[in-house]
Amino acid sequence: MKIAIMGFGTVGSGVEEILYKKRKSLLKNNFDIEIDRILIKDKSKKRSPLNKNLIFTDNFKEILNSEVDTVIDVTSSLEETYERILSLMKAGKNIISANKAVVSKYFEELNELARANNVYFSYEASVAAAIPIIHPMMEEVFFNDINKICGILNGTSNYILSMMEKEGLSYDVVLKKAQDLGYAEADPTADVGGFDAMRKIRILSSLLYNAKIKEEDILTFGISTIQKSDLDYAKKMGYSIRLLAKSKLDGGKIDISVIPTFLKDNFFAKTFKGSNAIKVWGENFSSYELKGPGAGKLETADAIIRDLLRILSAREIKTFYDGTNSYDLENNCLGKYYLRTSKISSKLEDLIDQDEILAGDHHIITKKTSLDKLEAAILDLNEVFIAKIEEEI
Ligand SMILES: NC(=O)c1ccc[n+]([C@@H]2O[C@H](COP(=O)([O-])OP(=O)(O)OC[C@H]3O[C@@H](n4cnc5c(N)ncnc54)[C@H](OP(=O)(O)O)[C@@H]3O)[C@@H](O)[C@H]2O)c1
Repeated sequence: MKIAIMGFGTVGSGVEEILYKKRKSLLKNNFDIEIDRILIKDKSKKRSPLNKNLIFTDNFKEILNSEVDTVIDVTSSLEETYERILSLMKAGKNIISANKAVVSKYFEELNELARANNVYFSYEASVAAAIPIIHPMMEEVFFNDINKICGILNGTSNYILSMMEKEGLSYDVVLKKAQDLGYAEADPTADVGGFDAMRKIRILSSLLYNAKIKEEDILTFGISTIQKSDLDYAKKMGYSIRLLAKSKLDGGKIDISVIPTFLKDNFFAKTFKGSNAIKVWGENFSSYELKGPGAGKLETADAIIRDLLRILSAREIKTFYDGTNSYDLENNCLGKYYLRTSKISSKLEDLIDQDEILAGDHHIITKKTSLDKLEAAILDLNEVFIAKIEEEI
């Protein structure tokens, strides 16, 4: 079986490493997988594949016109890769993608095209890497109402928050450390702005509710404005802070958000470093929890190889997503919130329950309110850190 890979960075080289190192064991189980060629962007870059005979190309047509029937997308490009996936699916090739930016932005289009062309579209690695979440959910949705899912879905933010908490360091110092260790990108906006977690909760929720949920409709708050004083304040109240992505379908309405959250539970609040953690609620099992590596070279490649073997052994689930369920997006997220701001607006004043001024900053606990109301009240303020206070998840 010949496959092609698009991208040979961290994850692409991990896929090659597993396929190379485990070739004997795979062969023994009738998985004779050969990488036909690998598409990269910069042909002049020095590469060190384990298989020294691998063919690299920067010419996409070589992949499109090849005989491979499955292509793995581990590129970091958005629009160009999307266009390429379209051509590949139209040419009858199965797609496995770890590229959450593409999978999230074009979730509807990719599922529709996969169905129209009778190919597989597999994206387990796009959410929480090594933690199996997409496939378990795909298997459940026909006989179990999964109506709530909640997760720490961004390892970089979790690394920063848990290290700030543990070491008492500033945001800038921990971010720099994360970048030096390769946990955070040079431009960390997608991670610390909450957008990466937003993409993942969109993928999961779209799948679970078989509904169209637009990225821009998901209320998203990140951790880029957090200060040590916020963690100190949370600690004084008995909480940790973690970036939580949440979605709930209740009474025909979807409530979905990404927001830093004050927590004192034994699961999320005790998720450290770059780990991801997910809790799912279903009609048949009340709830269950999963925790593990949500990123990394072999961790992400592992999920890709699982998708690949499922396709090769005809065990993969054909896409059933068609987004036909129509629900209102409520974005209520009712609860109490913590805010730190140097100024207060009159709109915000109405929502305040407690206000403590420390070193010139207001540390506010709001009355019970909705997130969209609070968002409107802080619109004109600069440099606000906002977190939801959760008594119980
Ligand atoms: N790293 C993780 O832990 C992780 C976890 C889950 C999901 N993901 C997702 O997996 C994908 C790959 O991540 P990564 O960490 O491996 O990224 P990376 O190290 O930056 O590698 C990206 C690869 O994509 C290639 N590429 C980029 N744009 C391309 C284009 N237009 N045409 C052809 N090749 C192109 C690059 O080519 P050159 O080598 O020539 O530059 C490079 O080989 C991303 O979408 C990421 O979001 C990553």
